[in-house]
Amino acid sequence: MISVTLQEQVDLQAFNTLGVSAVAEFYCQVNSAQGLAEASDWASDRNIPITLLGGGSNVVLQPTIAGLVIHNQIMGLQCDPHDEHSTLVSVGAGESWHDTVRTTLERGLYGLENLSLIPGTVGAAPVQNIGAYGVEVKDHFWRLTAFDRFAREWVTCDSAFCQFAYRDSVFKRSPGRYLISEVSFLLSHRFEPVLSYGPLAALQPTAGNALTGIQVSDHICALRSQKLPNPAELPNAGSFFKNPVVDVAQFQRLKQTFPDLVAYEVPEGVKLAAGWLIDQAGFKGYRDPDTGVGMHSEQALVLVNPKHADATAIFKTVAMIQQAIQRRYGVALEVEPVLIG
Ligand code: EPU
Repeated sequence: MISVTLQEQVDLQAFNTLGVSAVAEFYCQVNSAQGLAEASDWASDRNIPITLLGGGSNVVLQPTIAGLVIHNQIMGLQCDPHDEHSTLVSVGAGESWHDTVRTTLERGLYGLENLSLIPGTVGAAPVQNIGAYGVEVKDHFWRLTAFDRFAREWVTCDSAFCQFAYRDSVFKRSPGRYLISEVSFLLSHRFEPVLSYGPLAALQPTAGNALTGIQVSDHICALRSQKLPNPAELPNAGSFFKNPVVDVAQFQRLKQTFPDLVAYEVPEGVKLAAGWLIDQAGFKGYRDPDTGVGMHSEQALVLVNPKHADATAIFKTVAMIQQAIQRRYGVALEVEPVLIG
């Protein structure tokens, strides 16, 4: 007997930003940590797989999802003093990421401003270590609470445990094991803007003209709105591919053939702008004539799904783009969202 309400055969089209039609065998919404554990145990007792769904902004759903889909709607935000320079902010995993960023800024707590307007929930943020404009969530992460389905117990995970990497973490590598209920961030009382990313240079504070966290957030919202389509108007899941990393020798060879190639050094080698690769290969604004699936006309890294096509149609276009990029540049593009079902 569990306190959450289970439903059968629920269509998830409204719960994923690619607007894919997908039917969950079982579905429930949870709004407490206890409900999360109960739903998990219900599935474990029946040997049923589970999928934890947040904002559905980084997933591609198959037409049928076997097992139980748990829709995480655990809310709440609590501030606790940490030391004289910083505050610990603990947030329910089901809260909207962007609303959380704005709330922290309004309370004079800084660090998350560059991550404004990223779609999705707080619980999903550490899973793929969301990042934008020179900041990743790991930079301000303190710890999270999750239900470990294997051990059937609650665990507290610090940054080392999470094994954060570029759009990656232990949670992304072991799907279905950890159900995140709450995430805590350590945020600063002092605003120290990170303006290293090219398009933010215009914001450099000048003498007598102080910059605020809200201003940085507003600027980033404007930048993102120009390039990234609003899922409510044009279904998408943000960047569909990761920016690939190649070794220096391969980068130099590519640079000879493609002198304008956009890239920057990272410890593992050279990271290429996948949006540039796709754009220059001629796919910016591409649409599959049958399914409508294509790449956004303002940012070629964003796959769009205007006709709510299914996962098969999406991966047909994905495979075509990956093959074209492999042929043209000898580079493998890795899909960023998670395939479910
Ligand atoms: N570019 C093109 N054509 C395009 C797209 C990009 O030439 O169609 C060039 C741009 O001119 C720029 C470079 O590629 O010189 C990089 O483009 P952009 O600044 O838009 O960033 P990105 O590398 O394409 C990454 C993240 C975004 C994040 C932005 C800003 C990944 C996979 N994507 O995109 O994250 O918002 O940087 O920091 O790392 C997401 O993960 O869903 C996401 C949107």
